[in-house]
Amino acid sequence: MKHTDIIEILNDKGYIDTKVTVCGWVRTSRDSKNMAFLELNDGTSLKHLQIVIDKAVIADPNEFMKLGTSLKVEGTLVKSVVAEDSVEINAEAITVLGVCPPEYPLQKKRHTLEYLRTIPALRVRTNTFNAVFRVRSVVSACIHEFFQNRHFAYIHTPLITASDCEGAGEMFKVTTIGHSNDYKTEEEYYADDFFGRRAALSVSGQLEGEVAAMALGKIYTFGPSFRAEKSNTPRHVAEFWHVEPEVAFAELDDIIEIAEDLIKHIINSVLEKCPDELKFFNAHFEKGLIEKLESVVNNDFAVMTYTEAIEALKNCGEKFQYPVEWGCDLMTEHERYISEVICKRPVFLTNYPKEIKSFYMKQNADGKTVAATDLLVPGVGEIIGCSEREADLDKLLEAMRVRGMDLSEYEDYISLRRFGSVPHSGFGLGLERIIMYVTGVQNIRDVILYPRTVGSIS
Ligand code: 4AD
Repeated sequence: MKHTDIIEILNDKGYIDTKVTVCGWVRTSRDSKNMAFLELNDGTSLKHLQIVIDKAVIADPNEFMKLGTSLKVEGTLVKSVVAEDSVEINAEAITVLGVCPPEYPLQKKRHTLEYLRTIPALRVRTNTFNAVFRVRSVVSACIHEFFQNRHFAYIHTPLITASDCEGAGEMFKVTTIGHSNDYKTEEEYYADDFFGRRAALSVSGQLEGEVAAMALGKIYTFGPSFRAEKSNTPRHVAEFWHVEPEVAFAELDDIIEIAEDLIKHIINSVLEKCPDELKFFNAHFEKGLIEKLESVVNNDFAVMTYTEAIEALKNCGEKFQYPVEWGCDLMTEHERYISEVICKRPVFLTNYPKEIKSFYMKQNADGKTVAATDLLVPGVGEIIGCSEREADLDKLLEAMRVRGMDLSEYEDYISLRRFGSVPHSGFGLGLERIIMYVTGVQNIRDVILYPRTVGSIS
């Protein structure tokens, strides 16, 4: 169907006084005695395009006026009579592509995000979701651009795995058998299963990413990860998109630098490519959003050790629901207090107690902490989990034994430390979390097309 994208027409003055054809859905409509007006949106821009119908040319525009109707409009593009910087189409012919009945749920009133979650197939047609998904697309593209311009190879790690990267046991099982009374033990069950052993959906591509980095030097993965955490919070989904670079010959400071550069690159790209979307989020979701983002790219992120953060939290006079002591896992309330009140900007919290972190992290000389860091940002909390990896074979094996891990399941991973081991580091950035941060949208369910959360799959 030959037509021009509305974004092209809005941005290119060359179309003025020419004949154009556009397609889209009716977003608003208004009728008067001799004229009728429609706002058409084809999804390529947040702004709508006004269609002017002269009833002397098109006699009965009634069927074009219903919200949600899809149309093909042919006409001449002219400068708007009322808004100086704007354009509109004087319609010469209109074809209905798909009618839309009055029970169409997206009528003129503003709907709550909670209600819109109940109509996932239609919420995408609202301004909010149009803006969210455009930002998400720009962010995804600029993540590839960032790594591709720095000699990182894009690696596709498996989604079905036999090992547990984070060791938290929060994995979705992959099995083709299901409920059965035919097996006396789990071992028997899995021996008979598709892979002949236990398998699950991957929580992280890191372990396989390390394999690739030990050959290609610098790699990144960008795909879905799955977590069967029963955390019903505004920050957790069971299926999220995970960006995971892994870098050979890099220590913790080196990877922190890459993480900060990546976040600034993402924000700069959104500031440059999504000005209309940011204005929209600034007006409707987070006052001061644009100022915040500009300040983030123009200032260094804070760096603070876990030990310093615990001291600061204990002395700040704030009553937390969960009290803090050295050795405790930080809760969202603590993470947010550190970035929002103590540092007032994104902060890398470094050197966590080894007991609360994963087996693969490099053990520091103090015998108590590991060379790990989480990036905490105001409003969202943790958006990156990062560490230098343990490159020493004996120390790695010891950390795995202490955690009671079955070493035979990690033979490939362990072998990397036998054959030319090098210092290396990596991190995981949750795509939905960075989208929340750059848009000000507060619930992760509203930045992904179909959120999968505990007890809910639509
Ligand atoms: O801190 P995490 O668990 O780190 C890892 O998985 C490492 N293996 C990454 C690596 O070093 N390659 O997860 C990394 C990030 C978190 O900071 C968060 O942004 C996101 O993944 N994330 C989630 N996002 C949405 N919903 C969930 N349930 C998430 N779990 C983690």
